[in-house]
Amino acid sequence: MIPGDGIGSEVIDSARAVLDAVCARHSVSLEYTEFDWSCERYANEGAMMPADGIETLRGFDAILLGAVGWPGVPDHVSLWGLLIPIRRTFRQYVNLRPIRVFEGVRSPLRGADDVDFVVVRENNEGEYSEVGGRVNRGLPDELAVQESIFTRVGVSRIADFAFELAASRRGYVTSATKSNGIVHTLPFWDEVVAERAARHPDVRWDSEHIDALAAKFVLSPERFDVVVGSNLFGDILSDLAAAVAGSIGIAPSANLDPTKEFPSMFEPVHGSAPDIAGQGIANPVGAVWSAALMLEHLGHAAAAADVVAAMETTLRDEATRTKDLGGTASTQEVTQALVRALG
Ligand code: NAD
Ligand code: IPM
Ligand code: MN
Repeated sequence: MIPGDGIGSEVIDSARAVLDAVCARHSVSLEYTEFDWSCERYANEGAMMPADGIETLRGFDAILLGAVGWPGVPDHVSLWGLLIPIRRTFRQYVNLRPIRVFEGVRSPLRGADDVDFVVVRENNEGEYSEVGGRVNRGLPDELAVQESIFTRVGVSRIADFAFELAASRRGYVTSATKSNGIVHTLPFWDEVVAERAARHPDVRWDSEHIDALAAKFVLSPERFDVVVGSNLFGDILSDLAAAVAGSIGIAPSANLDPTKEFPSMFEPVHGSAPDIAGQGIANPVGAVWSAALMLEHLGHAAAAADVVAAMETTLRDEATRTKDLGGTASTQEVTQALVRALG
């Protein structure tokens, strides 16, 4: 467990309480080690995690993370010093981000109550590359360059994951692209996705330009089943999807190494939310749902299903919804309700 910064530790406390309750009920025993890797550690020791941090994590079955990032520490330090190296070293090439409009939760969109889809975000390459640089800092001719890297292996495996996932759901994949505007990378993405689609004739699919797709997320979110996108497109679409489903506070994510050679990482989609940190009002559901995805990954499907059922019960009741969902409950009250719902 890496609670991290801001509301990260608040929501991880909640996830841990729910895990303890559900594991007791299912006689599942999990062992936890907690690491204080965070911006606070950076301020005190000059690094987000120890030099052998990645090696330390390698021995675990799963990583449960709150959020990292805090004002005063540049995001490139906090994120490239912890989160991104974990995703990359452990080849967590799938970032799975399910979204649902739960009963009792109001979408900001009229009539959007039948929303249930999954964003499958490529998590290891694409626009998030280390290749690039800045020169002539502060001068009139200053410039910044960023390369996007798309590989055949990288696009094929994320497309395959999306098609296989869709085959177990409603059988429909939407691929996010921008082949009309970005000359090299996305036509390549499209070609590789089409090749992989041909191997999954049981799954319907289409491709949408990212700008039009963003509009359709708002206009007709119920039509989507599995949406596959590059690292940056998937990042943006997952916050948008979370907002459509009522709040970014609900959205979970699973950073998966599907081969299970390395540990996978589970974390809410949201960040450390400095604007509400310390107030005890953060919505813990995104972290709790992430913990359910972790249970599923570890082979405890029945326990995972119980956690989701407890979320459904809790969200249905206005008295146990946090402020971001229009309620007045505290993080702790929601946590207690979740534990109660688990029996
Ligand atoms: P954010 O997700 O932290 O916050 C965006 C808005 O959503 C804020 O108004 C916040 O109050 C609200 N919000 C987020 N989670 C909530 C919850 N659980 N309950 C209620 N409201 C919630 O995004 P940001 O402001 O862009 O980023 C803040 C910091 O977090 C930055 O340093 C950023 O880099 C970092 N970040 C980290 C991760 C991660 O560790 N995976 C993810 C996103 C952002
Ligand atoms: C997320 C976050 C991260 C990302 C940031 C904090 C680097 O926004 O997990 O969605 O862009 O991947
Ligand atoms: Mn994001």
